[in-house]
Amino acid sequence: MNHIVSPHHDHRFENLSENSISNQWNADTDIDWSIGIKRPSWLLGRFHGALISQFKFGELATIKVCQSLLKQISDPSIRSLLEQQIADETRHAHVYDRYLFRIGDDAPCDQAMLESVNRILQWHGSHLGIITAVHIVLEGEALRTLQDLADDIPCPLFSQINIRISRDEARHVAFGKIYLLRHLPTLSLDERIEIFRFVRNIWTDCTSNILNGFKIPGFVSGHLRRCWVDAGWTRHCRSMVDIGLLNEEQMSRA
Ligand SMILES: [Fe+2]
Ligand SMILES: [Fe+2]
Repeated sequence: MNHIVSPHHDHRFENLSENSISNQWNADTDIDWSIGIKRPSWLLGRFHGALISQFKFGELATIKVCQSLLKQISDPSIRSLLEQQIADETRHAHVYDRYLFRIGDDAPCDQAMLESVNRILQWHGSHLGIITAVHIVLEGEALRTLQDLADDIPCPLFSQINIRISRDEARHVAFGKIYLLRHLPTLSLDERIEIFRFVRNIWTDCTSNILNGFKIPGFVSGHLRRCWVDAGWTRHCRSMVDIGLLNEEQMSRA
């Protein structure tokens, strides 16, 4: 097992932790659950449930991954942040569950998501690969989708949920960026290329279902779905350049 102990104190982790503690919220009392549900006109009822269900399963998957990271990281400040994140994701899953109950529908976990999570949990390379896949790409994608849905789902209850969850997710992405910026320079170029390929494979498999299988009437045409997926990957590649995984030229050749 690869235990990582950071040699120097980093105030940025401390700031994140303070931010996390001061922004704690209660899923049952800080959301006004008496507000009525407003269904988006472009989305049929059962697809509304299917969409929100995948958010819930994404939260449960992130909990599993954070628990796995706790087995590999011994630095107390990082462990504390991961434990706070597990509490956040548990609250998010509970909120989505309660929202699904309100709309009276839910759906099973998407097969592509299940397979991707299993692959992340079985990754044998550096734990920095797991953090890149989850905190940069998957959570970055969750944040992007929540931002898009803020306009597309005009439901006041969903808006309340979205604002609170997005704030937490932004903090999780920030943690991933700071951690990776600090630790990726310790890896060789070959190790970083291996991480990039691992993340790219997961992205390709996960999004192929959106492009080919997950057809929601009214949920944009095939062409627009392709554009949306491509825009997402471009954005995640930019983030991976920013954290120092690879530069653009190395990425294009990887
Ligand atoms: Fe979450
Ligand atoms: Fe998160």
